[in-house]
Amino acid sequence: MAPETNLSESSPSPAVEAPFDPRELGEIEAEARRGLEAAAGLAALEEAEREALGRRSRFSSLYRALGALDAAARKDAGRALNELRRRIEAAADERRVVLEAAEREARLERDRLDLTEVLPGPAPGHLHLVTQVREELEDVFVGMGYEIAEGPEVETDWYSFQALNIPPDHPARSSFDTFFLELGEPGAENYLLRPHTSPVQIHLLERGRLPIYAAVPGRAYRRDTPDATHLPVFHQVEGLVVDRGITFGDLAGTIDTFVHAIFGEEVSTRLRPAYFPFTEPSAEFEITCRICHGAGCRTCSMTGWIELGGCGMVHPAVFEATGVDPEEWSGFAFGFGIDRLAMMRHGISDLRSFVENDVRFLRQF
Ligand code: DAH
Repeated sequence: MAPETNLSESSPSPAVEAPFDPRELGEIEAEARRGLEAAAGLAALEEAEREALGRRSRFSSLYRALGALDAAARKDAGRALNELRRRIEAAADERRVVLEAAEREARLERDRLDLTEVLPGPAPGHLHLVTQVREELEDVFVGMGYEIAEGPEVETDWYSFQALNIPPDHPARSSFDTFFLELGEPGAENYLLRPHTSPVQIHLLERGRLPIYAAVPGRAYRRDTPDATHLPVFHQVEGLVVDRGITFGDLAGTIDTFVHAIFGEEVSTRLRPAYFPFTEPSAEFEITCRICHGAGCRTCSMTGWIELGGCGMVHPAVFEATGVDPEEWSGFAFGFGIDRLAMMRHGISDLRSFVENDVRFLRQF
């Protein structure tokens, strides 16, 4: 080995004698690091790596030059070059980790599917008009000292009809086009979807806690084909007041009060005699037409008045059916449609718009 070592010293070729200028390796490394650092993406990084270590790089030509060195110089120079390559590769790996993380971040951001729809600013959407009016009505009745009560939508014949003084075969049944349900054994008790909220009167009276001042909002169902003024699923508010010494005057004053709270003071109310099996006497309550203000138009059939709901003094038969003593207690009841009330108040011509889910309609309220 010794003579070979001396060979390099005695060799006439400078390339063979002097392996590498260490400053050149330093330059190559610095340049490679600059290139890697400047790469803005993974593709650019690969390109920079190729420039630093690829076949046409300064590094590669030095590597090829190794062959011309004598064995000892080749060993030193080879080790120096290999270490340089490892350092450049390590720098490239480091840079690659950073760029991969950045690209992954960018991809996630790009592919983002925001399922929560949480937007800055006020929450999108709002309550349906019918819900808004229902809540407003609840506030009015709570302000009058009423409790808000609810009852089942699936009912029995007893609660929907018989206890309300509508026995089987009573002609009033035909005005409640009822959905019947077949649950359980054939011949078992018939269940139905309540065709009005009045059955909740029976639940409240049966509860036996008197006096009663209750407002009952809720859904009701009838076998009606949808048209401008009918929906098979609609909303009503039932009112029931039972106390000592309640008179028809209390009923009239109560109706006047909540109609004004909902429609404003300029609207007038009136009661017209009517018939309901569960009240006696019974009446329909009307308000002045919102379209023509009483002058007469198509909406009010030229009468100047629009019917809002039914009411009356609780029939003694209803008290009897629920075990309340009509000698001690008296009361009134009323019921009206929330959807129709909202329709009148906002001049909506077709009830079906409430259930079509057209945001252009819904957004107006
Ligand atoms: N339940 C009746 C209907 O749906 C409305 C009604 C009328 C309710 C008179 C009452 C009442 O409480 O006293 O047509």
